[in-house]
Amino acid sequence: MCGIVGYIGYEQAAPFLLKGLEKLQYRGYDSAGVCTNDDGKLVVQKEKGKLDELKNVTDDGKNIKGTVGIGHTRWATHGKPSEINAHPHLSESGSFAVVHNGIIENYMPLKQFLTEKGMSFRSMTDTEVVVQLLEYYYEGDLLGTVLKVAAMLEGSYALAIMYKGNADEIIAVRKGSPLVIGIGKEENYLASDIPAILEKTRNIYRLENGEVAVIRRDSVQIMDYDRNPVQKSIERINWDIHAAQKDGYEHFMLKEIFEQPKAVRDTVETRIKNGRVVLEEVTLTPEQIRQFQKINIVACGSAYHVGVVAKYIFERILRKPVEVDVASEFKYRDPIIDSKTLTVVISQSGETADTKEAMLEAKRHGSHTIAIVNVVGSAIACEADDVIYTLAGPEIAVATTKAYSAQLAVIYMMAVCFGDILGTISETDYQTYVTELLALPDKIQSILAQSESLKNIASKMFACKDAFFIGRNIDYALSLEGSLKLKEISYIHSEAYAAGELKHGTISLIEEGTLVIALVTYGNLFDKIASNIKEVQTRGAYVLGIGSEEHPELRNITQSSFLIPKTCNMMLPSLAVIPMQLLAYYMAKFKGCDIDTPRNLAKSVTVE
Ligand code: AGP
Repeated sequence: MCGIVGYIGYEQAAPFLLKGLEKLQYRGYDSAGVCTNDDGKLVVQKEKGKLDELKNVTDDGKNIKGTVGIGHTRWATHGKPSEINAHPHLSESGSFAVVHNGIIENYMPLKQFLTEKGMSFRSMTDTEVVVQLLEYYYEGDLLGTVLKVAAMLEGSYALAIMYKGNADEIIAVRKGSPLVIGIGKEENYLASDIPAILEKTRNIYRLENGEVAVIRRDSVQIMDYDRNPVQKSIERINWDIHAAQKDGYEHFMLKEIFEQPKAVRDTVETRIKNGRVVLEEVTLTPEQIRQFQKINIVACGSAYHVGVVAKYIFERILRKPVEVDVASEFKYRDPIIDSKTLTVVISQSGETADTKEAMLEAKRHGSHTIAIVNVVGSAIACEADDVIYTLAGPEIAVATTKAYSAQLAVIYMMAVCFGDILGTISETDYQTYVTELLALPDKIQSILAQSESLKNIASKMFACKDAFFIGRNIDYALSLEGSLKLKEISYIHSEAYAAGELKHGTISLIEEGTLVIALVTYGNLFDKIASNIKEVQTRGAYVLGIGSEEHPELRNITQSSFLIPKTCNMMLPSLAVIPMQLLAYYMAKFKGCDIDTPRNLAKSVTVE
């Protein structure tokens, strides 16, 4: 997520802007910039890399004049991290400056329109279209121009806009991405998030979607796109700075668990156009896709678990053999792959050394590589032949949640898109998949709304010494992730097991009170897993069943249960993973663990 700050008052703006951006660094970024209005000239200073670069070249903002300004930390989504792509963006004549957080989904046709009108672009960003539109339509009414342009934009955006001829106003627009306005004494502030302004004021207005604010030194006017005034009461913030960075959540992990509807929505909606899944990032032609005889998936940790889920999905839908490898094993097992093998590389950070090495090994064998990555411009993203970005935003907690869910969504879209090319899915199924993909965020939200019941279940389980996650088919793939989530943040020993395999040895470990979490969402095998549940219960296990609303009878055969909403079989993991994430979180919380930064772990393992 990008970070926006703004200041209008009688003090020098730049030093405050840089301090505000510092407080937003936790959101993750790859470049930063500020713009002030220095006596009718918009002065921009922006740098790729860390904020310190910008602080050094501007002497902490002291050498940038002007008492009104905007600042930005960029988390790249369109266009790699660079000085040119960094915000603020100036219009062609330098009359307008804009900073933006979000995605302008229709920026390409708008860019085409402006190019045909003779306007030229410097950056690869979607944001530059906004500042050029302002220039193109401006005829003297600043607010009217902003409202006109805002109405043309599709997607999610928080914008802060300055015009060189008006040093008494900053205009802010919100649709989808957050914006708060801080109320000061003869000065006012703007930010994506409260931490940036907390040192100045605890009195804020929160802009809602479809609202525009005209921010002056001594007033804030808020209205809708039709200029209808919007009355707001001032909200008093009593959080400390650390609580504010987590948006009021106790841990980043919990915040990111609750960000999953948005992470999935942002990842999916920009790739479904007129009811069709469009993966523009994949350079392969349909003929090349038809040539593949095998798919290889390489990844680590939770990303590997996404790969195991993908195996069940790709083999069922694409009817191609799929091999999934722990990346650290792949390179050293003399893999049998060639140009007829498609290699899918999954990584949140895009910097995991094992995964990068495995990808390079695949490339050395002539395999085409498609990477699914969350960090734009990361090493794996740069080396892969194609990269499909998950738009989950920065993930701060070491234990991944929203990136895992966004990766699953990309897998579903690949299955639908490639299945259509291979002719292995019917049009009816295609439509069902698209409908279910678009419905996923709301279904995830409906599970998050029941988080208290998971907290209650966790309160009864957190003292256990061992936990077994069992499942069959796609539920087995899912159990891997449930088990890792629990052990990596609660330090409770946990194993994931194919339910049908238990009786071949491991069931010897089941004794009175052993916790078993049974994944029972895949209805086709309900009776089979029900007998596995019986097996462990007769040996004393306490079974929590996580199943589907389609089989409420699960409640009658387990000591406790949680049911997820109906969806197509392929997408069951996206729903069933949520209760497991919440269970792990609350069990770790009850144990008093360091949830965001568990012992021995790093967010990105950049060594082999
Ligand atoms: C997941 O919760 C862990 N933090 C870890 O297993 C992680 O998934 C793994 O290290 C892979 O990281 P990557 O997705 O950034 O490549």
